[in-house]
Amino acid sequence: MSIPFITAEEAAAQIKNGDNVGFSGFTASGTPKIVTLALARRAEELHAKGEEFKINLFTGASTNDYVDGALARAHAVNIRTPYQGHPETRALANNGEMHYFDCHLSHISQDLRYGFYGDIDVAVIEVTEMSPNGEVILGAGLGMSPTLAMMAKKVIIEYSSYYQTSFRGFHDNFMLADPPHRREIPIYKPSDRIGSTVLKIDPEKIIGIVPSNESQIIQPFTEADEITQKISDNVCHFLASQLKAGKLPKEFLPIQSGVGNVANAVLYGLGANPDIPRFEMYTEVIQDAVIHLMEQGSCKFASTCALTFSEDTMFHFMDNIDFFRDKILMRPGEISNHPEVVRRLGLIAMNTALEMDIYGNVNSTHVMGTKMMNGIGGSADFCRNAYLSIFSCPSIQKGGKISAIVPMVSHVDHSEHSVKILITEQGVADLRGLDPKQRAEVIIENCAHPMYRELLHDYVKLAQKTGGHTPHNLSAAFALHQAFLDKKDMLQADFGKK
Ligand code: COA
Repeated sequence: MSIPFITAEEAAAQIKNGDNVGFSGFTASGTPKIVTLALARRAEELHAKGEEFKINLFTGASTNDYVDGALARAHAVNIRTPYQGHPETRALANNGEMHYFDCHLSHISQDLRYGFYGDIDVAVIEVTEMSPNGEVILGAGLGMSPTLAMMAKKVIIEYSSYYQTSFRGFHDNFMLADPPHRREIPIYKPSDRIGSTVLKIDPEKIIGIVPSNESQIIQPFTEADEITQKISDNVCHFLASQLKAGKLPKEFLPIQSGVGNVANAVLYGLGANPDIPRFEMYTEVIQDAVIHLMEQGSCKFASTCALTFSEDTMFHFMDNIDFFRDKILMRPGEISNHPEVVRRLGLIAMNTALEMDIYGNVNSTHVMGTKMMNGIGGSADFCRNAYLSIFSCPSIQKGGKISAIVPMVSHVDHSEHSVKILITEQGVADLRGLDPKQRAEVIIENCAHPMYRELLHDYVKLAQKTGGHTPHNLSAAFALHQAFLDKKDMLQADFGKK
């Protein structure tokens, strides 16, 4: 059968109010780009006529302005999951207009297959090559395309000619059988391929192909500032010391690294550190630094879900694609983040926190306990199951008005039971083997900013009057947060009167 070429507008017209719609990609990579813009225009036109139009939006992870930005501005999203990082989507999540539920990225595909959220009415999948029998080569982000392609009643293909070279061979498409038939995932080292280079989509379901040559538009990273550099140095020195102490195997272990400037700086730091052996990555996203480290020889291999490169790095990658062919595999999010594989490979997981408390609980998602920032993403998939779970962040924010080390986190994403190491620009708190009172001492002394240490020690003294294994004074535990909300400065918290 021949599949027709259609316009983005014709594709968007196939999506109805209330539909569950899945998009390919992971972060800004591999998402559809022009069908989503046409969909946003369609929503605006229907709203102008007084008609309701909102979709329920399912993606592999965060997206970009083509997806979350455009659809949020068009007020076209009712339910959103599993993750977002766009300011306009965040605003809708926080003002209640959009129902956002934040979900582990390793869970979302299986939750859809389990039927928790209903059918997928339409999937829009970006491809870079396609055969008439429905075999496609995906783009720079794999996301949950295998599950979407399998579940969707209708599939729209966005055929990208932006990537000027073939991505054939970089994907490892694989879908888990669901319980009670699930088997082990046969990945024993990051480079083990378990699936297919192509994704097979039933051609009967494909309603049309929309040509596109839009770019990904990913901004390059800014140079590491002094704080970011110190955090990176602390992470690298800590890992080198663990190797020397025999607490990491001498071959080293695969790295998982979150996204952002700290993660980029840490990777460059690992590459430059003569005490760190050549390493592999098993992670959900690779950024510009990884390409540099592969060329330099310090990163041997990366298993990822997406290539989240800035435009310059993407072109560099494509110009030198043969060099990278045996060094990168892209897998679906449920495999790149799967707890079974994370535990088996023994990852060194490095993620970023908004705030950490004196007992080692971590908040990655909610500013002052209420306002959603982005979401938990893959951080808990990795943190809970890693060999070493590290969280880092600057010790203060907003010129010192906010301390990242607080008596009690205002929202818990990662509990003291999963978090092993905290790192700020001040130093490293190794929580392994410490009871809560010992942890509080080490975290305050090693990680808190000096301007907050006395205040935090005052809290500990107050909490210890209540006693217990994990001492807290429940009426004072959020005094720093309350001081920021009332007086715009956590340092104004006062435990003297409690
Ligand atoms: N209270 C209030 N605001 C805070 C804060 C706190 N404790 N900590 C940070 N902020 C503010 C910063 O001041 C900054 O504000 P600005 O945008 O107005 O300048 C903003 O939050 C971002 O802070 P920054 O230090 O630049 O954070 P980041 O870009 O490194 O992101 C997270 C940190 C936690 C938001 C981000 O890593 C995240 O979303 N993590 C969860 C998902 C995840 O880990 N994904 C990777 C898994 S593989």
